[in-house]
Amino acid sequence: MVEITEVAIVGAGVMGSGIAQIAARAGYRTRLFDAAPGAADRGVARTLESLARAAEKGRATVEECAAAKKNLTAATSLETAVRGAHLIIEAAPESLALKRELFAKLSDHAAPETILATNTSSLSITEIASAAKNPERVIGLHFFNPPPVMKLLEIVVGERTALLVVATARAIGARLGKDCIVVRDVAGFATSRLGVAIAIEAMRMFEEGVASAEEIDRAMELGYNHPMGPLKLTDHVGLDVRLAIAEHLCGELGERFRPPQVLRRLVRAGKLGKKAGEGFYKY
Ligand SMILES: NC(=O)c1ccc[n+]([C@@H]2O[C@H](COP(=O)([O-])OP(=O)(O)OC[C@H]3O[C@@H](n4cnc5c(N)ncnc54)[C@H](O)[C@@H]3O)[C@@H](O)[C@H]2O)c1
Repeated sequence: MVEITEVAIVGAGVMGSGIAQIAARAGYRTRLFDAAPGAADRGVARTLESLARAAEKGRATVEECAAAKKNLTAATSLETAVRGAHLIIEAAPESLALKRELFAKLSDHAAPETILATNTSSLSITEIASAAKNPERVIGLHFFNPPPVMKLLEIVVGERTALLVVATARAIGARLGKDCIVVRDVAGFATSRLGVAIAIEAMRMFEEGVASAEEIDRAMELGYNHPMGPLKLTDHVGLDVRLAIAEHLCGELGERFRPPQVLRRLVRAGKLGKKAGEGFYKY
């Protein structure tokens, strides 16, 4: 197994910055790249602030913060980010065309043995992998939001992913302090499929006036011990993100995943959830 010491994260948004934080904290030399000018620098700054807060609350030591700070840098180009990387984690927007284009480029610039991982929530790993020169090195590493807090790492195995890459992914997950599950590459994997199924049903109930958003959420929080109800969780994930996933699952798995009208209406109105100040709730 290749020893992983150098990690490149492509996409410095919500997920990329969070993944960079845990990678740097776990001791990987981590380079963060984003296509938008200044975004990688902002991602690094956010990450360091988040680590400092963790230290204040006693969830990280000052030494861990200093080490993470040393390990984490912003890269100015895709080439410099991926050069010499043993592991690349892509966290760019959820678009198959964009991810395929990126994986073609990544496999051009990276060494042949580099592991190419995608943080996609729902797209086919096999389809993304087929755009790369070496599809057997491509795997899904599905982190959850926020990456430093959420314990799960869903490892998604594409049709052509090599067994050694799966074993390495498990070892990486363990070093990042995550509990791993390994699932086959089917639409929505295990998590998004179940999560979106519950959220869609909650939205239909909201539309039908079965109960208010608060009451629907409390049903699951208090009745089933879910830490967050499905509508509140949709606000946190982003309604646009959930709509894209539901549309994809509807195409792949059938009508039961057809996005409810209320979801389309809120997205059209720019009510994308917490990040926009309003979704099913006001913030
Ligand atoms: N937000 C969530 O809760 C969540 C959870 C799990 C997985 N995901 C998945 O993670 C991925 C990223 O989601 P996010 O919420 O962080 O999105 P985001 O919009 O916050 O961040 C995406 C970043 O990618 C950058 N980008 C766009 N094109 C790029 C390119 N060609 N090269 C490099 N960077 C590029 C954007 O500038 C942006 O900063 C998606 O595939 C999403 O499905 C999201």
